[in-house]
Amino acid sequence: MTKAAAARAAELRELLAHHDYRYYVLDDPEVPDAEYDRLMRELRALEAADPTLVTPDSPTQRVAGTASAEFGEVVHSVPMLSLDNAFTEEDVTGFDRRIHERLGVSGELDYVAEPKLDGLAVTVIYREGRLAQAATRGDGVTGEDVTANVRTIRAVPQRLRGKAPPLLEARGEVFMPIAGFERMNAQAAARGEKVFVNPRNAAAGSLRQLDPRITATRPLTAFFYGLGALEGRAMPPGQMELLTLLRELGLPVSPEVRPVRGVPGCLAYYRDLGARRAGLPYQIDGVVYKLESRADQERLGFLSRSPRWAIAHKFPADEALTVVRGIEFQVGRTGALTPVARLEPVFVSGVTVSNVTLHNIDEVRRKDVRVGDTVIVRRAGDVIPEVVKVVIERRPAGTGEVQLPERCPVCDSPVLRVEGEAVARCTGGFTCRAQRQEALRHFASRRALDIEGLGDKLIEQLVEQDVLKSPADIYTLTAAQLEELERMGEKSAQNLIAAIAKSRRTSLPRLLFGLGIREVGEATALALARHFGTLERLMEADAATLEQVPDVGPIVAAHVAAFFESREHRRVIKALRDHGVTWPELKVPPAEPSDPLSGKTFVLTGTLQGLTREAAQEALTARGAKVSGSVSKKTHYVVAGAEPGSKLAKAEALGVPVIDEAQFLKLLGRR
Ligand code: IVH
Repeated sequence: MTKAAAARAAELRELLAHHDYRYYVLDDPEVPDAEYDRLMRELRALEAADPTLVTPDSPTQRVAGTASAEFGEVVHSVPMLSLDNAFTEEDVTGFDRRIHERLGVSGELDYVAEPKLDGLAVTVIYREGRLAQAATRGDGVTGEDVTANVRTIRAVPQRLRGKAPPLLEARGEVFMPIAGFERMNAQAAARGEKVFVNPRNAAAGSLRQLDPRITATRPLTAFFYGLGALEGRAMPPGQMELLTLLRELGLPVSPEVRPVRGVPGCLAYYRDLGARRAGLPYQIDGVVYKLESRADQERLGFLSRSPRWAIAHKFPADEALTVVRGIEFQVGRTGALTPVARLEPVFVSGVTVSNVTLHNIDEVRRKDVRVGDTVIVRRAGDVIPEVVKVVIERRPAGTGEVQLPERCPVCDSPVLRVEGEAVARCTGGFTCRAQRQEALRHFASRRALDIEGLGDKLIEQLVEQDVLKSPADIYTLTAAQLEELERMGEKSAQNLIAAIAKSRRTSLPRLLFGLGIREVGEATALALARHFGTLERLMEADAATLEQVPDVGPIVAAHVAAFFESREHRRVIKALRDHGVTWPELKVPPAEPSDPLSGKTFVLTGTLQGLTREAAQEALTARGAKVSGSVSKKTHYVVAGAEPGSKLAKAEALGVPVIDEAQFLKLLGRR
């Protein structure tokens, strides 16, 4: 190993830990995410070039180890207690009075008020400042060893800052912020997987994964609020000092913790946080009051399994019972049918809920929700309301399982559900009113037929008036017709007619993309156009022939074949031709097979500075490479620009090479 490389690796590890601290503990990041990612990539590259540089506490080692068959057991050195609950102000007054009586004191007592985080309690042991073990609470005496999983959580430092005691056991809560939870659930629903009922379950499910690589992809974070064992220094004299110590050691503490005085201080905090609850980025189910003085805490001791010196003051229940009046299927942009439960309106945590999405038909079956059922509806914070479960005991006689409609509720076209897919779709395409508007918008968009001036508002009016039934109708529009519309003058009508005329001369790839065939994005449209050259040849191809096109698999092939089988689609294509839309035969020299980029799959994430995403995409497809929207094991490169999204995390979890813009340009031969 070269000295310079070793020194740089050490420096990078320190920098990354410093940025984690700024981000998670101080909530005041110093650098944008892209810079953090750049440092991480540099460290990875150094360690890859010389594996002797890897240290166990390197941030690159957060995802280490493989799936295990089960979790080991950890016996807690100090039991992990639970909290007694208060539901009313009288409960809180009673708690405070009992403390006064036991301690034999009068006057207002000092408390620390904290949010009650709705996650999963963990204990994290640091030996000589290094993360050595992490465990769940379990039954309070014995928990599960989740060290490998907790290591993947960036908010939990691998090493403590400053002068760390020889042994420190920090206790806190692992949780999932709401935004991350909703993103994860949307992705799971799209893949037909089980969605989590709430962020708490999602956090628990993610932390209790046997494969830490899966945990690493979950948006978990943590706040700490307590101490277990501590060696080499005295216990802090109060809860506020304890929280300060945790913070100084680099452990994240909620920014909402406050010292308060007496019951009035506690209740004021409760009301304030309750009012701000919906705006917090994570779920809380109440607040916790802890007596400040450690000496007094020790005098009070415990009552069975909860301390006498702390209590959880819970927010009102955010669950309610109601009845399902109907289950309807909504047709979305791509024709996807989403089951929606129409409820007897019910008031849950501050709002009236009358509709709840059931995501997909599999989810309806899993929960077995039926019309007439009494269900538990939950809404917490900003989370979209959910049906938690059916109260089976209250199911009326004669209900039936919900059936996926065979025909679209909007247009009556057949509904198709591809094998293995969770989502069922209306096959009506342009003929379905719900899909038509979006299809027209897509057809006119810049990367498709590029009709300048045909915006959303106009399309909406024209669909509403039944003037536009298919994209071909765009070419029958007259200036006189357009002038009738809202916000349309003579001049803009003429401009639009000119833009429509101009769009008549298009290209086969643009047309194919513009038709909005499922699964056919720009790259696939280009691949199909290159392969077949003319629309006629493409329309004659059966699924097996289609699969010969590079990167066209059975799913895409089935969608393309089904699209052109439809008589309605054929009619639209003929009408486009009849109205003078032309697309010349595409004659392309076969991609240089010697081009190193040929056949490679790229995923772009974040913003590139030097070129637009479209330009990057064009440059890649011109070289025979493919651009995909999602990261998988088959991805060759992920190009990460500024503020990259979750694709970056996924790439890192899957071990897919990540390159930055400079490296990308070099690959393209532009630098
Ligand atoms: S203190 C001896 N503080 O609530 C004190 N717990 O109902 C034990 N929790 O198991 C816990 N936020 O999972 C404490 N600020 C907070 C908390 C908190 C959430 C959870 C924790 C605990 C449960 C008890």
